[in-house]
Amino acid sequence: MLASILKSRRQILRASLGAGFLAANAKASAAAWLPPTPSQPAGPFYAPFKPLSIDNDLVFLPGRPQPADGDILHISGRVRDQSGKNVSGARVEIWQANRYGRYNHPRHENSNLKLDPNFQGFGHDQTDTDGIYRFRTIKPGAYPDSPTWLRPPHIHFAVFPPASAPWTTQLYFADEPLNETDFLLQGLPTEADRIRVTMTLGPPAPDLEPDSRMGKFDIVLGTPGVEQRKI
Ligand SMILES: [Fe+2]
Repeated sequence: MLASILKSRRQILRASLGAGFLAANAKASAAAWLPPTPSQPAGPFYAPFKPLSIDNDLVFLPGRPQPADGDILHISGRVRDQSGKNVSGARVEIWQANRYGRYNHPRHENSNLKLDPNFQGFGHDQTDTDGIYRFRTIKPGAYPDSPTWLRPPHIHFAVFPPASAPWTTQLYFADEPLNETDFLLQGLPTEADRIRVTMTLGPPAPDLEPDSRMGKFDIVLGTPGVEQRKI
């Protein structure tokens, strides 16, 4: 009888230790689980064809000595998964309007906005062993998406990790008045989400163009199939 009671107490103790261990582990996992960069739709202007000179510098095109019109930006960041692990070897693509708000895309051909023949409009980079990517581009202009909706300056991002599905989002700029009325940005569930896709620009590093600006945009890839939008 006593042996049986002791045995059942041992079982209870073991069970409660197991439950405690699991709870502690779950807490640790939850603490390490990073919130993803909110996904945003790719929109209608994803490049239907890629420029032959695809690279991570959208400011200069081969054979054209003039830079693209606009304020030069240097954007870099780290791509991680939700466990915090750097994602190396990911292809990072960006596409955006030029400084006048015009995409070099057939769907924007009926726009009265000015084309800039020196602007690449689309670029890609590959994350290094630390998950870092970088681009040189210009600050895009705002453009009307409809007669009543003026989209704030933004840059589209698509990340293609080596081992999971692509992730798309849009990057916005801090202190842009049009951010306050943008359905896509304001449609994000929380202020924290809006902050995650908004970049503050600062002065350039000493080795960069003195009148350029720098910004950092880290990306946390979400769980494919849960919050991802298809390209
Ligand atoms: Fe756009």
